[in-house]
Amino acid sequence: MAMSLIADDVVADVIDSHSRTPGALLPILHGVQDALGYIPREAAIRIADALNISRAEVHGVITYYHYFRSEPPARHLVQVCRAEACQSVGAEALIGHVRERLGCAKQAQSADGRFSVEPVYCLGLCASGPALTIDEHLHARMTQEKFERLASRMEEQP
Ligand code: FES
Repeated sequence: MAMSLIADDVVADVIDSHSRTPGALLPILHGVQDALGYIPREAAIRIADALNISRAEVHGVITYYHYFRSEPPARHLVQVCRAEACQSVGAEALIGHVRERLGCAKQAQSADGRFSVEPVYCLGLCASGPALTIDEHLHARMTQEKFERLASRMEEQP
C-alpha cells in the first residue's frame, strides 16, 4: 500500500534535512519513525534512493536495531527489560506472562493490533527490577499480580 500524501511529505522533509549530513541514514530513520511511528517499506525505498545506497542496506539497518519498526505500532506498547539485573529477579518469567496475557505469545503484536510486547535491555531501574514500561511509563518491581491490574486498565481504554 502506498504511503499517504502527508506521510510522503514527512519522509521527503526528513530526507531533505539530513541528506547532506555524513552518516545520514540513522538520523533519517530516527526522524521518519519519530514522525510516523514506524518506517514504511516505501519510505525505506525512498531513503535508499536518496542516499544512493542499496535497499538491502537500509533494510539491514532497520532490522539490526530493535528500536526501528517496519510495521505500524500497536495501540499500547509494553517493553520488558531483559538485561542481567532484571533477569536475576525474574524478568524471563515476567515477559512470558506479559506476552501470554496480552495475546503476544507467538508474535510481537496481538492479533487485534492493540498490544505489542518488546524486550529492551536496561531501563535504568536495575536496583528495582524487574522493570517494564507501558506506553513509555516506567514501572519497577513488577509482579504478575501488579501487571494484571495494569493490563486490565489498558483493556478498558479504547
Ligand atoms: S537491568 Fe533492567 S532496568 Fe537495568
